[in-house]
Order: sequence, then C-alpha cells, then structure tokens
Amino acid sequence: MSASNREVVLGVGAGIAAYKSCELLRRLQDRGYTVTVVPTPSSLNFVGSATWEALSGRPVSTEVWDNVHEVSHISLAQKADFFVIAPATADLIARIAMGRADDLLTNLVLASEAPLLIVPAMHPAMWLDPATIANVQTLRSRGYVVMEPETGRLTGRDSGQGRFPETSSIIEKFDVITGNVRDLVGKRVLISGGGTREAIDPVRFIGNRSSGKQAVALASAALLRGADVHLVAANMSTEELGGVTVTEVESAQEMHQALLHEFPLCDVLVMCAAVADAKPTQRFTEKIKKTFLTSINLEPNPDIVAELSKTKQGQIMIGFAAETSHHTEAARSKLVAKGLDAIYVNDVSDGAIFGKDTTQGMILSRTGADIALKEVSKDALAHLLLDYAARQLG
Ligand code: PMT
Repeated sequence: MSASNREVVLGVGAGIAAYKSCELLRRLQDRGYTVTVVPTPSSLNFVGSATWEALSGRPVSTEVWDNVHEVSHISLAQKADFFVIAPATADLIARIAMGRADDLLTNLVLASEAPLLIVPAMHPAMWLDPATIANVQTLRSRGYVVMEPETGRLTGRDSGQGRFPETSSIIEKFDVITGNVRDLVGKRVLISGGGTREAIDPVRFIGNRSSGKQAVALASAALLRGADVHLVAANMSTEELGGVTVTEVESAQEMHQALLHEFPLCDVLVMCAAVADAKPTQRFTEKIKKTFLTSINLEPNPDIVAELSKTKQGQIMIGFAAETSHHTEAARSKLVAKGLDAIYVNDVSDGAIFGKDTTQGMILSRTGADIALKEVSKDALAHLLLDYAARQLG
C-alpha cells in the first residue's frame, strides 16, 4: 500500500490551534496521503467547513446525519488507515475516553481500529487537571498515541504546558504510527548505504559526502515493518542499528562483492549508497610525497546496481539518483539504464541533503504516479520507498 493509497482521517477539535491543522493537512498531503477532515461541530467556530473542503478537496461533515444513505460513520471508519486528532481539546479527549459517539468524529473513533494519534492542545490548568490526566491514561492504555503538548506562551498571557506541538513534531510521531504497519514480515530487505572510498595511498582516498543517514533511516524503517534487514555499509556509523545484519565495506569493489553475495537472497534491494564511479588505477602502498602528488589516473568502477539487475529474479530494485541539474530527465534514464523498478532523485547541489535529517526530491517508478516530496524526514522517505516495495511484492 503506497502513501497515496493511504487514507487519513484528520479530526479537528474546538481549539484555537485548529488553524495550525491546516498546515498539518498540507504536510500530510505532501507526503502522498489522502486526507478527509472531520471537524467537531464547535471547531467550525475556529476554522470553517469551506476552508477544510478547499484544502482537502473533499466534502466535510460533522454529524452522522449528513449523507445518511452512505452510512459515513461506518464507511469512513473502515476506509481510514490512520487517524490524527489535532487539536484534541480536554472535552474531546474526555468524550473519546468515555466511548461517547455524539458527533461524526467520535463515532468514527469508536467504529475504527486504525492507529490513532491524538495531539492535545489546551490551557495548562486543564491539561494538568486530574480528570484529563486520567482520561489521557485511559487512551494510552487502549493503545492510542497521545502526544505531550509543548510548554510555552499560550494564546492569552499565560504560559505552561498546553501548546499545540510544531507540525514537524506531529509528523515525526505520525511516522512512528505509520511505521507500525508490519507489511514486510518474512521479507529480506538489502540496503546499501554510506559513501565508498577509493584509496590513493595508505592515507588518502577519493570519497564523497554521504553520511549514511538515509541508509540508517531505511534500515530502521524496514526493521520496524518486520523485515529481515541486511545493510552493506560504506564508511558510516551503524551503532544505532540493533537487529540489522551489517557488512562493513570501504571501496566500491568491496561493496560489489558483498552485494553480489547477498542480492540473490533478498526480496528488495534499496541502493542508497553513493558509489564512486571511478578509482585510481594504482593504489600506492607508501604515502605519496607531496612533490609527486600532481595527478591521479582513474579507471571506472563497475556499475553495481546495473550489474545486479541483470541477474534479477523477481527482486524489487530501488535506486537513488544524486543530481545537480536536469534531475528528472537524468533519473528517468538511470531508472531504465540500471534496470530499476523505482528511483528517488534528489538535488544535491552545494552538498544539500548529505548529512541532513531531511530530504527533498521525487520518487519515479515504472508502475505508478511520481511522488514529489517537499521537505520530509529521511525516515518518511524510507517509509514511502518501502510502501512502494511492499505494494510491488503484493
Ligand atoms: O547518506 P546521506 O548523508 O543521508 O545522504 C543521502 C544521499 C544524498 C547519499 C542519497 O540521498 C543519495 O542520493 N544516494 C545515491 C548517491 C549516488 O551515488 O547517486 P548516483 O546518481 O551517482 O547513482 C545512481 C544509482 O546507481 C545509485 O543507486 C547508486 O547507488 C548506484 N551506483 C552508482 C555508481 C556505481 N558505480 N554503482 C552503483 O550501483
């Protein structure tokens, strides 16, 4: 199931922070989710139906009495893959905790088994009231994820814990929930990451700026989704990857050897590594004296992923393309020339993306619509690529 096939219900409670959920809706759409907004009736005092309909491109209802013939409280509940309720007021939290069904949103929550993220926002006195504390505990004990509100200045003069979290924090939490989909159980996911180094002499090498962060995000996401994960890691940190089998390599040749061995065993290959296209023709065993260090002769390295795709036996192959110009064109020809099923192209002009926690680019595939990503976390991209792989695996 790709993100574009994933239905999110965005519930909106009657808090002033409702206007911030317009941004949240946009960010969810940027990531390819299809979103239906279900406001509570009183939340329309803050943001009206017209805004939600315009932003979501879908009709908006607050009551079960709208479109009764469609039995929307059941059909929407069955269709939804995820729920986000933002902002959740003290009253809405209390109603959900009690299992009430007095508007469309609370009906949907009762009727659905989809993972639910609740984003509270309220005055600190209400957040810290024993009734709210008990209600939040009840919701958490039912497996709902309830975020902690942020601390700071509120709408009035007061400050304390009760502020609506930043959109980026909500999206991060949402990724955890979407990552809970264990659709890769029994599948072997092979990932390459980091940047290869081609030795010139014992001290110097030709390398690149890849930190391996994207590969770590991919390995963690695949693990979370139940896959058996093998990472071929070139010059990157793998400390935080418990549960992942790691083969450390340095050069493109070593990476090639490791992947030749693992590729026949995998169901999915994600080739994220920045591989040196060429290496010095000669590796000096002694450090070259600086007076002789005037030029380096190079010879091409094998195109690893292109070689592997010639031996492909049903594996899903996803590549990356790091470009600085004519991005989409260049990536499309790599998609075909390297025998890939999909490719993620990112603009790395001025060293962008390398070493960062976020990325932006476009997923191109042979089957399915292209997905443009504005600025998303590397975790989010990892899940989107794995969504694609999981869908192709059926
Ligand atoms: O590691 P980070 O700091 O998180 O940064 C992430 C990233 C920028 C490294 C990542 O997003 C990225 O773009 N990785 C691919 C870099 C790259 O080598 O792109 P390319 O356009 O040169 O290669 C195209 C594809 O062919 C890649 O899948 C590459 O792994 C593969 N390739 C390239 C050369 C070669 N000799 N053999 C290969 O298999």
